[in-house]
This record gives sequence, C-alpha cells and structure tokens, in this order.
Amino acid sequence: MTLIDAGPAGALRIAPSILAADFGALAHAVREIDAETDWLHVDVMDGHFVPNVSIGPPVVQSLRPYSGRFFDCHLMMTDPGRYLEAFKSAGADGCTVHVEVGGTATLIDDARALGLRVGLAANPDTPFEMVAPFLGDVDLLLLMTVFPGFGGQSFMGDVMNKVSQARREVDVNGLAVDIEVDGGMDARTAPIAVHAGANVLVAGSAIFSRREPLEAARALREAARGEL
Ligand code: DX5
Ligand code: ZN
Repeated sequence: MTLIDAGPAGALRIAPSILAADFGALAHAVREIDAETDWLHVDVMDGHFVPNVSIGPPVVQSLRPYSGRFFDCHLMMTDPGRYLEAFKSAGADGCTVHVEVGGTATLIDDARALGLRVGLAANPDTPFEMVAPFLGDVDLLLLMTVFPGFGGQSFMGDVMNKVSQARREVDVNGLAVDIEVDGGMDARTAPIAVHAGANVLVAGSAIFSRREPLEAARALREAARGEL
C-alpha cells in the first residue's frame, strides 16, 4: 500500500472527523468534503479505553478507494499495538496512540517499523511531562481538547496552556512535529487553538453536523487562517 504524504510538519491542516458523519453513507460524506480535507481523521474506539465503540480496519479499507487524502487514525484503544498492522494494511497513513495506555516507546517503534507516520495523544488531564520524552520520536502530538469517547462535546480551553508549552518545545528544538487538537473545534475555537500553537485541527460536528459540510469546513479553515 503506497502511503500518502502528510505534507510539511507545522502547516495548517483541517482534519474532518468521520465520527460525526452518517455511517450509512460514509463514502458520500468523505467525497463531499474532499476539497477542504487535508487529512481525514478516523476515530477508533474500543469500548475499553473509552466507553464508546466506533469503527475499525474494515471501514478504513472500505473508505480507502474513495479518498486520496492522508488517513489520520486516532486509536482510542487500550491495546493499539495489536492492531497497528491491520490498520496499516487497511490503508492508514498515520496512527496515533494514547500515552495513557503505556508501552509508548515500543508502540512508537512498532508503528515506525510498519512505515506509518506516528502520533502520540494525551487526554486533557494528562500533563505535558508525560509526552515530552517522546517528542523527538514522533511526527505528531495530539492534545485532546475534550475527554475522548464522544463527538459533540465542548472545547476545553484549559488545554491551551499545554498546546503553547508543546509549541515552544517543538520550535525551540526545531522538531518536525505537528500539533493536533481534537474536540469541540469550530470557527470560534479553531483560532484560539491556532493562536496557542496548534496546526492540525480535527473537527467532527462542526463539519458533518452542518447542513453544508463543505462550506462549514471552508469556514473553519478561514477562521483558523485569520490567526496565522
Ligand atoms: C473524540 C474524538 C474526536 C471527535 C471530535 O473522542 O477523538 O475526534 O470526533 O468531535 P467534535 O468535533 O464533534 O468534538
Ligand atoms: Zn479523534
């Protein structure tokens, strides 16, 4: 499977989360927003690390022919290591694992060995110090702006201190690491996150729950751009 290039680290990217799309018409949903999609964010929930269950590799595989975009798979799973290969084979370009599940160094190595772009995620109450030791080994740091498990929650502004801290660390050390935020992102909160130092914006409800998803994604990008 040829990997899709993620683009230069640090560039502004909109990553629509298909969690908020109509699962009965995913291919249509993905195509509809394609022109405003930089990465497609795939939320994987195992019913254990988070209370909810969503989708897995077969859905990634089924969607692959419908999108030429970078597939950014967010693994909200207690044991992501068991599934990295399956996601890679299904067509994932990048996989992000949560630092809270432990075994981080091994997970990063395993994902790397598979040729995946590697992300590390932290919940809103997980301190920056937990992810800091791995910053030089990953391509992406995902700082959750809601507690993972459900779409449609409210953006937690408190996390912006951590985003700024991460941005400083990345810039001071000249690291090629993207800083992604996920949860409650919309045209009001996106500029706040970009101002704090995030460059990849995940949005589910603010895109797919709108009457005109493509227009909503465009508005989100415009709002974020205004902050650059
Ligand atoms: C939360 C997921 C998010 C979610 C975002 O568990 O990781 O990606 O889909 O949804 P919104 O944008 O609706 O907050
Ligand atoms: Zn997510």
